[in-house]
Amino acid sequence: MSKLVVNGEKKLFGKVSVQGAKNSVLPILAATLLCEGTSVIHNCPRLTDVTAAVNILKHLGCSCVCEKNTVTVNVRSLFCNQIPNWLMLKMRSSVIFLGAILARCGKATISVPGGCELGPRPIDLHIDALKRLGATVTESHGLIEFDARNGLIGNEIYLSFASVGATENIILAAATAKGKTTIHNAAKEPEISDLVVFLNKCGAQIYGAGTDIITIYGVEKLFACVHKVIPDRIVAATYMAAAAVTGGEIMLENVMPSHLQVINSIFEESGCTVQSNDNSIYLKAPTKLTRVPMTRTAVYPGFPTDAGPLVLAMLSVANGTSVIVENIFENRFRYVDELKRLGANIRVEGKIGIIEGVSLLSGAPCKCTDLRGGAALVVAALAAKGKTIISDIYHIKRGYEDIDYNLSNIGADIKEI
Ligand code: UD1
Repeated sequence: MSKLVVNGEKKLFGKVSVQGAKNSVLPILAATLLCEGTSVIHNCPRLTDVTAAVNILKHLGCSCVCEKNTVTVNVRSLFCNQIPNWLMLKMRSSVIFLGAILARCGKATISVPGGCELGPRPIDLHIDALKRLGATVTESHGLIEFDARNGLIGNEIYLSFASVGATENIILAAATAKGKTTIHNAAKEPEISDLVVFLNKCGAQIYGAGTDIITIYGVEKLFACVHKVIPDRIVAATYMAAAAVTGGEIMLENVMPSHLQVINSIFEESGCTVQSNDNSIYLKAPTKLTRVPMTRTAVYPGFPTDAGPLVLAMLSVANGTSVIVENIFENRFRYVDELKRLGANIRVEGKIGIIEGVSLLSGAPCKCTDLRGGAALVVAALAAKGKTIISDIYHIKRGYEDIDYNLSNIGADIKEI
């Protein structure tokens, strides 16, 4: 089992090019199932979650080639409409294949998704929406079967919560359904807009992505295209937190600053200078970070839940008391106990994390509990005095391409063993 070894207290200084967005590439790979021909997806980060998605496509019958940061997918004929349990377990987001498989095959079977590191993650919104599009759903022996052999039919769908995954599944199911589908209270995340850009290039007619009403006019066929995935805003936030926590200075390249506005404002509040250009962000940290009294996670364009752990780790060495309220996931603070091993002074009361900044963290063995919690440990370790050994880094590899290499390049003492 590999680990990351970090010797902290090195100021980070330099340029980092930001990888493509994991949360874009996964639904886009699912969308390739709907397309005739060979889809070419550029700027795909090399991640275990992307490998899991490619394995699902292969299992269903697609031929896929991964070369550097490009994945090509050819869907001639699918010989399977079921995602087996072992592939579902590899990646909880496998559920976003559901809408596309159902649209393409008229049937789809998945295993009942269990809980995950962030607490229970139900799929009731996905199921209700697919029923509204005409699917019948039966559950037995741990499997959920969706049947739409007579075709999916457009409908009005009202989401009680603006779920990212449910919005994507509806878009994928409705793109080739009969008639018009309208999603009310749709999620507005940039990764959804990226999925829609991809689908529209393939011939879909989808309007309103990035707003809370998305309208989809079903078309008969979609044709493969070439697409470049948008940059990962959470990975960008991770490198910003890493530079900030060491009092460093960083230039991020290949970012979309408009996707990071709220995140940037939190860094500014903590005393960093942040300047955005067309596709780059410059951050210079103060000698001592100041507290950020209140950060609340929310759906986009609010402060993203996935950036919460990174900012919390950074604020653990700020001057004074900061508070982060987690409004999206029930069990997001599990990594806090690991941060405490490094000397962080954090109290969690339900969905509220109260961070009393300490003057210095000290290196210690710790282990990742989840993807962003693992990245938060890296951020804290970069600021800590002495050596931190981080285990269970397979969580980090789900979402970060070459994090050790990128951080070493800007002055960190970090290596994988
Ligand atoms: C996506 C992102 C994840 C991010 C999250 C919130 C991907 C691959 N993952 O996850 O990184 O943290 O958005 O921005 O894009 N819920 C229900 N019923 C449902 C669906 C969701 O109750 O049917 C709840 C969830 O339990 C959670 C909340 O809604 O509490 C948000 O979930 P959702 O927006 O669906 O997140 P994901 O798509 O799973």
